[in-house]
Amino acid sequence: MSARLAAEGLTAGVGARTIIRDVTLAFPDRQVTALVGPSGCGKSTLLRCLNRLHETVPGAHLRGRVLLDGADALGAGVDAAALRRRVGMVFQRPTPFPGRWVRDNVAAGVAALGARAPRGAALDARIETELRRVGLWGELRDRLHDDAGRLSGGQQQRLCVARALMHAPEILLLDEPTAALDPQATQRIEELLYALRAELTVVVVTHNLQQAARVSDRTAFLLGGALVEVDDTERVFTAPRDPRTEAFVTGRFG
Ligand SMILES: Nc1ncnc2c1ncn2[C@@H]1O[C@H](COP(=O)(O)OP(=O)(O)OP(=O)(O)O)[C@@H](O)[C@H]1O
Ligand SMILES: [Mg+2]
Repeated sequence: MSARLAAEGLTAGVGARTIIRDVTLAFPDRQVTALVGPSGCGKSTLLRCLNRLHETVPGAHLRGRVLLDGADALGAGVDAAALRRRVGMVFQRPTPFPGRWVRDNVAAGVAALGARAPRGAALDARIETELRRVGLWGELRDRLHDDAGRLSGGQQQRLCVARALMHAPEILLLDEPTAALDPQATQRIEELLYALRAELTVVVVTHNLQQAARVSDRTAFLLGGALVEVDDTERVFTAPRDPRTEAFVTGRFG
C-alpha cells in the first residue's frame, strides 16, 4: 500500500494554541480516506496543513513533515503554489466566482498551470471533459454562459470539483463538501468521490459517519487534535481498537 501523501509527526497551531498534535497519518494512493471527529478536533486544520494553506494564517506555526510521494512538501525550497496544483481542495460551502460564467469558473482552474495551461479548443475540450466527469455536462452544456451563482447548491459544488480537477491534481482534499447540500445533491457528490478514486487520492472531512462508511476505504478518527485511530473503514466501524473510537462511531460520544 503506497502512500501518495503522508503527515509525519505533524504538530500545528496558531499563536499560543496547538491545534494538531503529533499526527502521523498516511493517505494511500487511489483510496478515499475519511477524516472524522467531533467539531473543533482539528480536521479542517489538518487538511489545510496538507496543502500548505494553514501556514498562510497569521501567527500559524507547524512542526513535523508532510510528504508528497516521499518528498518533503513543506521545505523552504518547495513552491507552495506548485504543491497546491498537485493537491487540490474543495471547501464546505460551494465557492464559485459569483457573477462569472459557468465556463469561466471551470476555466479558472487552469490558471494554476501557468504557461502550461491549455487555451482555445484545447481548453474547451478540457472543460467538457471535467464537466462530464462531475456529471454536469448534460445539465450545463447549454448554460455555459450563465452566471455560476445562479446554479443550485449541488451544481455549484460539482462545478467547484470540476474547477479543482482542471489542474489535474493527484490528490483532492475536500472539507465537508456536502454539508450545505440536500440528500440528492449529497448522493451525487458521494458517487463522484467514489468514482474519482480510480484516478486520484482523496481525503474527505465529514461530519456524517454514514457518509464516511459509504465513500471511504480508510477512516481516521481525530480527537483533541490527535489521531486516535486509523484503519480500513469497515474495521473502524465494526471493530474499532480504541474505546473512544467505538464511542464516537456508535454515537455514544461526549
Ligand atoms: N486561525 C485560527 N486561530 C485560532 N484558533 C483556530 C484557528 N483555526 C482554527 N482554530 C481552532 O482550532 C480548533 C480546531 O479547528 P478546526 O476548524 O480545525 O476543527 P474541525 O475539526 O474542522 O471542526 P468542525 O468540525 O467544526 O469544522 C478549534 O478550536 C478552532 O477554534
Ligand atoms: Mg472543519
